[in-house]
Amino acid sequence: MPTAHDLEGYYQHIDDVFSRAAVIYDWKIQANFVNRSIRSVEIRTLLKYSRPGMSVLELGHGTGEEALKYIKETGNRVTGIDVARGMAEFARDKIARNGLGHLFQSNVIPASRMGELGETFDIVYSFNGLINTEPDMEKLIDGLLKITHRGSFFIVSFRNTSCFGETIISMSGRGRRAVRARKANEVNVEVVGEKVASRYYSSFEIRKILGKNFRIRETLGLAVLFPPYLADKLSQRHLSSLISFADRLMGRLPVLNCLGDEVLIVAERI
Ligand SMILES: C[S@@+](CC[C@H](N)C(=O)[O-])C[C@H]1O[C@@H](n2cnc3c(N)ncnc32)[C@H](O)[C@@H]1O
Repeated sequence: MPTAHDLEGYYQHIDDVFSRAAVIYDWKIQANFVNRSIRSVEIRTLLKYSRPGMSVLELGHGTGEEALKYIKETGNRVTGIDVARGMAEFARDKIARNGLGHLFQSNVIPASRMGELGETFDIVYSFNGLINTEPDMEKLIDGLLKITHRGSFFIVSFRNTSCFGETIISMSGRGRRAVRARKANEVNVEVVGEKVASRYYSSFEIRKILGKNFRIRETLGLAVLFPPYLADKLSQRHLSSLISFADRLMGRLPVLNCLGDEVLIVAERI
């Protein structure tokens, strides 16, 4: 991950890559049954903590898919942050086409600058990996503390350093490289053919980072058994519902809830 002096270059790269990815992003996610299942758990969890009239901030909103679902379901306003201009434009257009543009506003800045928004939110959420591509964690947490109040929820999912299903497969001698890569200080994730330097976290590390300012309300493992990149390898398509069901069940069990391809944590500001 970049050091403080090349942060600007890193954010620029994220902007370039994800802006180019915007037009194919939803199609790619929808084509993968594991990704669909992950998103349905995330949105259900978000709705569980939401109440009418809450102020909500999404970090790394991407194409606006989750924000749109959330706004449709609750009628609450969502403020967004995404460093990719192409994603911000895509999300604004999509939500406006659905007649809900007045309830969504996007800011093109790195998540570490959220403290500059100058308002507080009842819920801050971020799904599927922004945390893994924010090099300035210290500033991110400082910002989070500025824009939340006692009782605010931080609902976040991130790529994890250990995935149960992947570890089991590696015992047969296959996929050992993937198991090792998760634990490295830097993991190169491919987006539209370009490498994006990322850092994976264990749920223990994220709990520690949230530290004494948040109480953990829930920890859920996402894709515990079957990481998304294996979805294409499944020849028996009818097994996909069964795998998604097993994944959701396993993700709720102690220990396994920390061993998903991703982990979803619900934390309450104290
Ligand atoms: C993997 S996508 C996830 C999009 C969406 N939340 C989802 O669940 O599909 C990550 C998004 O976060 C944005 N992003 C990544 N790192 C960021 C950072 N440090 N600050 C702000 N946005 C970032 C990217 O531009 C991209 O739109």
